[in-house]
Amino acid sequence: MKRIFSGIQPTGEVHIGNYIGAIKQWVELTAEYDCIYCVVDYHAITIEYEISELRHKTLDTAIILMACGLSPDNCKLFVQSHVPEHTELAWIFNCVTPIGELERMTQFKDKSRQHRANINMGLMDYPVLQAADILIYKAGFVPVGEDQVQHIELSREVARKFNSRFGDIFPEPQAILSLAPRILGIDGSGKMSKSMNNYIGLLENGDIIWEKLRTAVTDVNRVRRKDPGNPELCNIYTIHRAFSKDEELIEIDKGCRNASIGCIDCKKILYRNMMEELSPIRERAESLKKDTDYVRDVLKNGAASCREMAKKTMDEVRAGLGIYYPV
Ligand code: TYM
Repeated sequence: MKRIFSGIQPTGEVHIGNYIGAIKQWVELTAEYDCIYCVVDYHAITIEYEISELRHKTLDTAIILMACGLSPDNCKLFVQSHVPEHTELAWIFNCVTPIGELERMTQFKDKSRQHRANINMGLMDYPVLQAADILIYKAGFVPVGEDQVQHIELSREVARKFNSRFGDIFPEPQAILSLAPRILGIDGSGKMSKSMNNYIGLLENGDIIWEKLRTAVTDVNRVRRKDPGNPELCNIYTIHRAFSKDEELIEIDKGCRNASIGCIDCKKILYRNMMEELSPIRERAESLKKDTDYVRDVLKNGAASCREMAKKTMDEVRAGLGIYYPV
């Protein structure tokens, strides 16, 4: 069975961009692939964070993933720092990764602008740790949002560089994109993101979600109700594509283009479909929050079995590198 790896940072509230750009397809892909999913806590410390909150956010993020449908029955789920071989492999990958490649990463440039007071080495090295996350399990496929494609390309390059010098150990992983790989913020400006106040939280209550949707930016060229709109330029339509059925999408597309439905009508349909999908997720999250021992067990077992796999890869890597290692 082909293997998948992907990860999410425990940096804040999980939002619908994370859900429809990544997590929703993580769940769907479990039917066809051998899937490994990870809460990447060591990535989260590359920016300023609240020390007392990190462990809670890590557990909360795992709870959301499980509430969305991931479980030990369909995947391995664990916390990155519980398998320390990831960071060990990242060090080795550092030695084959050109600094110039890291300097040109869009996310590094963006985050350096956002966190001017703390442009640390970890921020620049972030994609190398990401490559190690994926390659330590020899995963061939990585379901992510569009913003991560550049990092997956770097992983391919790291694998290529390593293999050509030290032996053919790693596959070159490919990104898998969802139908909605780039969700903009509700203000329509940049990407929906945990660090900006422009997101709809996955577990937010219905009233708040409706208020955010109601005021969210649509096709900016559709100024008056009678103006025809263009769904291709509308962030709300992109979100619809993840939550609404095909027949409804065709109706909305047509109604928007000939102005027979307005943006508010369109948002009401989206709201109804979103609530239908998100309410059960919220309920499952509530009950998992009451049973954190179970969640901890899942993460512990996930880490134990991933660690076995990671250790095997590290044995091959050390042999390839010519490292003296006591047997
Ligand atoms: P993170 O936590 O920033 O994002 C988690 C996933 O959500 C996707 N995403 C979006 N998709 C569509 N529209 C948006 N507005 C949006 N915002 C976020 C991201 O693309 C991502 O798939 N670097 C990774 C974490 C990571 C990782 C890995 C991923 C660490 N190691 C190895 C894959 C493989 C990240 O962006 O996390």
